[in-house]
Amino acid sequence: INKQSHRKDEHVSLAIKFYNDNSNAGFDQIRFIHQGVPEISVSDVDYSTSFDGINMNVPFYIEAMTGGSSYTKKLNEKLARIAKKTGLAMATGSQSVALKDSSESSSFEIVRNTNPDGIIFSNIGSSVDPTNAQKAIEMMNSDALEVHINTPQELIMPEGDRDFYWLDNIKNIVNAIDKPVIVKEVGFGMAKETIAKLTDIGVKNINISGNGGTNFARIENYRRKHQELSYLDNWGQSTVESLFEAYAFSDDVNILASGGIRTPLDIVKSLSLGAKAVGMAAPILYSLIKNGEDATVEMIEEYKNGIKVIMTMLGARNISDLKKQKLILSSDLLAYLKQRGITY
Ligand code: FNR
Repeated sequence: INKQSHRKDEHVSLAIKFYNDNSNAGFDQIRFIHQGVPEISVSDVDYSTSFDGINMNVPFYIEAMTGGSSYTKKLNEKLARIAKKTGLAMATGSQSVALKDSSESSSFEIVRNTNPDGIIFSNIGSSVDPTNAQKAIEMMNSDALEVHINTPQELIMPEGDRDFYWLDNIKNIVNAIDKPVIVKEVGFGMAKETIAKLTDIGVKNINISGNGGTNFARIENYRRKHQELSYLDNWGQSTVESLFEAYAFSDDVNILASGGIRTPLDIVKSLSLGAKAVGMAAPILYSLIKNGEDATVEMIEEYKNGIKVIMTMLGARNISDLKKQKLILSSDLLAYLKQRGITY
């Protein structure tokens, strides 16, 4: 087993080892107002969503995790089957490994083979050139391409990148690729300065993937012998903070949320803060590995039901109704917004 494939297996086992059902992504800092006479039936609720030509029947999806080894090929096959049974879109983990070593391609191709009609997102790092970006899409005939930005992860990984001149390359990818391109964090969140730089080069879809869920600073530190950089374990902006950072941009670019999404309430709060769709990674992997495929399908069905329950209580017939909800913010969050000059 080569080094990169071994790393993919380690990411899975460490994400499971550190998995926590209670996220720290800031969702407890916002509350809805209960509506006692919502004048709606559960059957009136339509939670379908769309962005940049991608139409999702369900507003959450399986976020980028894995592929690139024989173990993760099996996981990708199971995740693809779960996506097919539940109608969820699914992103794979970074295909960079398969672009370097074509013998690893099958661990991604299996996702399309298992779910021929599903919505599938490719995933690559920000230094992959446009030609290889196109190859990543063709590998799974994907519907969109995620390009991840992950400087803390790279820097904490001893074998990671040390050069971070990414913007020109991202711009070239956006210009060369005729499918939707989503620039995505990996759990460190985004500030409005980052989002402005990305929108300036023509990025149309941004996943702010904030901290509070799977923590790649912690995972990569654990992979180091002495965990020398563990003081960086809380680096980044939470998912809720990042959604507020993104709020002013949400009319011009499609904002997606991920990072520490652990309940249907987290999903609905993300949607009401302007997210067009919401990605979940570790909870689905954890459920698959601990409880199996059928239990995970059941869990996802419960999530769908939970979203409908909350939307019904709020009297929200669709996602745009959700965006009109008034939210109550904690004083900590208000202080953050004040210091950041964010009005809401
Ligand atoms: C990830 N994530 C990720 N993201 C990405 O863009 N490319 C990748 O290759 C990976 N690999 C990966 C492996 C594993 C095992 C996990 C759990 C996650 C990050 C993921 O897409 C997401 O941004 C974060 O995990 C935060 O979401 P959760 O896990 O808190 O729901």
